[in-house]
Amino acid sequence: MEQQRQQGAAARRMATLASHLRPQRASSHPQMEEGPLLMGSNCRAKGAAPGFKVAILGAAGGIGQPLALLMKMNPLVSVLHLYDVVNTPGVTADISHMDTGAVVRGFLGQPQLENALTGMDLVIIPAGVPRKPGMTRDDLFNINAGIARTLCEGIAKCCPKAIVNVISNPVNSTVPIAAEVFKKAGTYDPKRLLGVTTLDVVRANTFVGEVLGLDPREVNVPVIGGHAGVTILPLLSQVNPACSFTSEEVNHLTSRIQNGGTEVVEAKAGAGSATLSMAYAAAKFADACLRGLRGDAGIVECSYVASQVTDLPFFASKVRLGRSGVEEILPLGPLNEFERAGLEKAKKELAQSIQKGVSFINK
Ligand code: 2OP
Repeated sequence: MEQQRQQGAAARRMATLASHLRPQRASSHPQMEEGPLLMGSNCRAKGAAPGFKVAILGAAGGIGQPLALLMKMNPLVSVLHLYDVVNTPGVTADISHMDTGAVVRGFLGQPQLENALTGMDLVIIPAGVPRKPGMTRDDLFNINAGIARTLCEGIAKCCPKAIVNVISNPVNSTVPIAAEVFKKAGTYDPKRLLGVTTLDVVRANTFVGEVLGLDPREVNVPVIGGHAGVTILPLLSQVNPACSFTSEEVNHLTSRIQNGGTEVVEAKAGAGSATLSMAYAAAKFADACLRGLRGDAGIVECSYVASQVTDLPFFASKVRLGRSGVEEILPLGPLNEFERAGLEKAKKELAQSIQKGVSFINK
């Protein structure tokens, strides 16, 4: 009797060892198939901290892979689902060897999307194609809009209460696309849909730190508007710690922050756009969302969200994060003349990008 019990326990332990690599049956993808003992539910690591369930959609891509690494290191994450249309078995195997608390499971191809999403608290979407030199983020619309729609349909069906972080470009349009998909499904909650613009803040902090001779970790620059070209509007009059710039410095910094993504696209010379700094920024933002979900007080980040702070339906600005996502949109604060002019330019382009996203779903 005792021997049988021990053998049963040993068989279960063996099943657990590899179950995170084979979360469910998928006959079209033999490398993800599992035997009868290898149930995904068996794969919780002993000692895994209670925490949040996070899915990354596009986890095998240039941003997805380093983002998966960083989220596996986040102590607030207990379960990490990695979904992509290619290469998730390898990425999952690799990440799963990290001796951190989060349990990792891989999901390959659209038939596994629903399993990847079920039960998630936070879904991060870096899926899509990146820019090549000479392209704007809007040039990605034709491919990435359809990808965003499919993934958001899955979210509406399987985890309608999840917080959603949208990274896929053009963010100025993919966030409105997500909103329209959720509206159609009857699940839209504007507080839970957030476009990730943290990389603009990260770049602004770095470049301003360089100019001022400060550690970038001590610098905080609000960046408002959107996430493309002139829609990226750093508020250099509101830098913390308070400082002042010459107009030459303002022009240089504004232009460098607005073109930070293009600087990386050109340096990579056809091999893609920012992936590592983007993953860093996305992980920073996801961590802020998780701390908000946990109930931490005073979490303020810039994000592109449904907003009444201007007359546009979506706008990036400082938001306070909490248990329900965006709990408050903070006022823009006083803008100087340069920033007011920048705001008008940003709004003009943003209005078109928003409309393009809305029409894509309602055409
Ligand atoms: C960037 O700003 C990839 O959109 C991203 O570099």
